[in-house]
Amino acid sequence: MSYKRTLVTCALPYANGPVHIGHLAGAYIPGDIFVRYLRMRGEDVVFICGSDEHGVPITIKAKDQGVTPQDIVDKYHKVMKDAFTGLGINYDIYSRTSSAVHAENAAEFFRKLYDQDDFITQESEQLYDEEAKMFLTDRLIEGTCPKCGNPHAYGDQCEKCGSTLSPEELLEPKSKLSGSTPVKKKTKHWYLPLDKYEPWLRDWILEQHKEWKTNVYGQCKSWLDGGLQPRAVTRDLDWGVPVPVEGAEGKVLYVWFDAPIGYISNTKELLPQSWEKWWKDPETRLVHFIGKDNIVFHCIVFPSMLKAYGDYILPDNVPSNEFLNLEGDKISTSRNWAVWVHEYEQEFPGCEDVLRYVLTANAPETKDNDFTWKDFQSRNNSELLAVFGNFVNRAVVLTHKYFGGKVPANLKPEAIDAETLAAIKPCREALEKYIETYHFREALKEAMNMARIGNKYISDMEPWKVAKEDMDRTASILYTCLQICADLAIAFEPFTPFSAEKLRGILRVGIDAGTDHRAGEGTPTVNFYKADEGKAVHTRPTASSPAPAGNLVLNWDMLGNAEILPAGHELGEAVLLFRKIEDDEVNAQIAKLEAIKKAREEAEAAKAAAEAAKKVEPQKAEVTFDQFGAMDIRTATVLAAERVPKTDKLLKLTIDTGIDQRTIVSGIAEYYSPEDMLGKQICILANLAPRVIRGIESRGMILMAKQGDGKMRFITPQEVVVNGAQIG
Ligand code: MF3
Ligand code: ZN
Repeated sequence: MSYKRTLVTCALPYANGPVHIGHLAGAYIPGDIFVRYLRMRGEDVVFICGSDEHGVPITIKAKDQGVTPQDIVDKYHKVMKDAFTGLGINYDIYSRTSSAVHAENAAEFFRKLYDQDDFITQESEQLYDEEAKMFLTDRLIEGTCPKCGNPHAYGDQCEKCGSTLSPEELLEPKSKLSGSTPVKKKTKHWYLPLDKYEPWLRDWILEQHKEWKTNVYGQCKSWLDGGLQPRAVTRDLDWGVPVPVEGAEGKVLYVWFDAPIGYISNTKELLPQSWEKWWKDPETRLVHFIGKDNIVFHCIVFPSMLKAYGDYILPDNVPSNEFLNLEGDKISTSRNWAVWVHEYEQEFPGCEDVLRYVLTANAPETKDNDFTWKDFQSRNNSELLAVFGNFVNRAVVLTHKYFGGKVPANLKPEAIDAETLAAIKPCREALEKYIETYHFREALKEAMNMARIGNKYISDMEPWKVAKEDMDRTASILYTCLQICADLAIAFEPFTPFSAEKLRGILRVGIDAGTDHRAGEGTPTVNFYKADEGKAVHTRPTASSPAPAGNLVLNWDMLGNAEILPAGHELGEAVLLFRKIEDDEVNAQIAKLEAIKKAREEAEAAKAAAEAAKKVEPQKAEVTFDQFGAMDIRTATVLAAERVPKTDKLLKLTIDTGIDQRTIVSGIAEYYSPEDMLGKQICILANLAPRVIRGIESRGMILMAKQGDGKMRFITPQEVVVNGAQIG
């Protein structure tokens, strides 16, 4: 299949929290690499993203924080948008599903399927919270698990024993919104009959898209083999796009119906006149970058929607990564176990590329993978800095030292020079092949191999030694090194754009990075970077203000050429491309995570203890009235208290029982100090047979309440009574 243009989307992130490194590794960095690469190759690309601002989690978060859902999405939309920009992920548009264009577009989409009779409707009984006046989704219902007795099982699952549940099975179900007991109420919803699309999906995915990544293809296959069911595309909720038909008051489009339409809406917002060409012309290639939890929606649900609507193109590929873990644990927004991108940008300014590099080099492309701060540090220090940065620095510094900062002429070439330069081309070809098949980790390795080739060459050639006797040979060596530097300034542009730009500043060259559509329907912007006045200047030449003549402009086609920088070309100052990342910087990050983990474990332990404390023992065997009557239980007061030496548990108490003063030894020293007990009124069993404990005669027993947490608590009369009052 040939195509004329490529529409690239990245999953619209939920606006209920900031973006973290798992999101970046899963979809956003791969998407950006792909787009930058295609643009450098001269392809016409539109790059679409935006915030997904509907759905139940946003309403819950708003409720928890006592603000409106709008407050929540406004906040995170901005945080996410800025975080992407900060990392050089420059969408042509980053809009939001709360936009007016989207409201209209999503409603129109639903309406068309409705008019075509593509939906089925179904009435069902669902649990309803009469206080909150809301239907409850499974996660909003809590109750006791019928299988294991866990009192905090959700409507869909018990996290303690792992059983899958339905809300009806829960014992004593309660609404998480109001705490009230939900009632059943009838409600009608619209369903997309996915079963109807199953034969077509089987053919389209399983036969026609065998080239999809195996994790994606495999997930689709297992869904299809399991059989598809109709899926509700509406919800009873007051946050979302209202269902635009009669009899649907109080209902909105299901977030997974409305969000993918957001890709179309955002394209329409950007290109109100020409958007259709991007979505309806079969010569457009559509590619969705997503995380693995989104596969079914992008490969099965959304394509069925597009197919039902008619005249839309379908995705050509849906590259999706597996999950990235953090220091061995699953990344989780709700558990605050994440590296937040906006925080990273604040804490490591100037190191944006390091994160891009590490997340690509360590991308969870075929299996889940782990991000650790130690790995982050070592990839920076021993790869970016020691290989790439060090090579460039040596080449440029020596050129300044021996040749006044001008690319020397190739005065005394040797075979090794040409061989070294020739080794770049195969790396380039492999890099291209890998990017075009969505294997970004492998592609980055090839770019890094180019840097290794340069670094090894300069180390082996030792121009700093050669310079002592043979300046002509030194010239050839540095000439060769500088050609490789120029290769790196091209090859790294998709992966580490900030460093590539810095390098071009050093080399005083520009680059043709292709066109983008950030100007909307206006003339596409040429991403042309020029070098000027000894520093890198980023210009966007227009028809009226073209790029200055005389600038050397790199482009992808030059990559691997024997000569990119001609002799005599003047270099700028050597600046370091990467800095060392110190132990204390990563240790601080590790400590931050450990503190989060500790706080969470403490909170969980406290919760478990509170649960345990509530547990009560079953009733003991029956006693007769006489047996009870035989016990002399009475009130008494502690007159004196001391620890029994050499024990942890025992207190020796002097007690006024109303009839006498006596000694009782009691095992409560773990819970009460002697001072705690002094003067306390308590209850005792007075006529217990005396016992000698640690040489002390103990006469009677203090009555203590013992509950599930194991702690003993003495019982004190609510109203003060005389000592010796009988209890019974
Ligand atoms: N908001 C979803 C998530 O973060 C992704 C939505 S992708 C779209 O997992 F297709 F629905 F836009
Ligand atoms: Zn259970």
